[in-house]
Amino acid sequence: MSRPELQAPPEIYYGDTEAKKYTNNSRIQQIQADMTYRALELLNLPPDESAFVLDIGCGSGLSGEILDEQGHVWVGVDVAPSMLEVAFEREVEGDLFLQDIGQGFGFRPGSFDAAISISVIQWLLNAETSHPTSSPPHRLTRFFTTLFAALRNPSRAVLQFYPTSDDQIQLITSIAQKAGFGGGIVVDYPNSNKARKVFLCLFVGGGGGSQQMPKGLEDEGQESEGRAMFEKRRERQSKSKSGKRKSIKDKDWILKKKQLYRQRGKNNVPHDSKYTGRKRKPVF
Ligand SMILES: C[S@@+](CC[C@H](N)C(=O)[O-])C[C@H]1O[C@@H](n2cnc3c(N)ncnc32)[C@H](O)[C@@H]1O
Repeated sequence: MSRPELQAPPEIYYGDTEAKKYTNNSRIQQIQADMTYRALELLNLPPDESAFVLDIGCGSGLSGEILDEQGHVWVGVDVAPSMLEVAFEREVEGDLFLQDIGQGFGFRPGSFDAAISISVIQWLLNAETSHPTSSPPHRLTRFFTTLFAALRNPSRAVLQFYPTSDDQIQLITSIAQKAGFGGGIVVDYPNSNKARKVFLCLFVGGGGGSQQMPKGLEDEGQESEGRAMFEKRRERQSKSKSGKRKSIKDKDWILKKKQLYRQRGKNNVPHDSKYTGRKRKPVF
């Protein structure tokens, strides 16, 4: 079977109206959500624990909402003020930083349990100016070295992106490896033009074999031509035997969130008490 064309990234929007349009487009919402669920799966975080996650190129917080739903605490960075403005208006839970990731991060070493990035890092392949230190390899090097430092050992970063050639994949993976990361590329649905997705799955530490390279998802017969595959698979996986998603929003999670709100200076955060996070009996 011939290899399908590499996909072009969806158009990127920076204006105020475009940022809102991007966020309210239900198809975009669905695609970003599906890829975030898959990135979380590839992160392989300990089950039923809340993690501190960096969302790289968080945009208006579509991926961040999934992190919330899954009980994680997150920090988002993005270069577009208009996208962050929409995230702020939508009252997302994550702390937001306006930042060009090509300049590198300034986080304290070992700050994050994990990092995700959905549909972002292909933009680092465009030179910002003709200045030599703004070339894609320079920007990628700053990005990966500072990301490596910001992650704790062991941990993972999963970055979905839209390469337009194998050379781009090669450039990105080689710079990530030079920065210290293990891991590599995972391709889901490699033979489907529509559903094919490329994930850079990076490991920090785990030299003792604790980090195993995940496998890409394979095409499933008739369904191979659309996002239906992602969706159906996610529904199958995310439900417990009772048919409900398991919640990890326990007492620890609630206390962490309340602490975060207090740090941000939010008023009216309820006091912690022995009743915090208690299970209520169903009311009939
Ligand atoms: C397709 S959007 C994805 C947004 C978000 N991850 C989501 O799931 O909806 C790509 C985002 O990457 C951001 N971006 C592009 N280049 C960037 C850079 N150099 N530094 C930080 N963010 C960047 C854009 O501003 C935009 O918000």
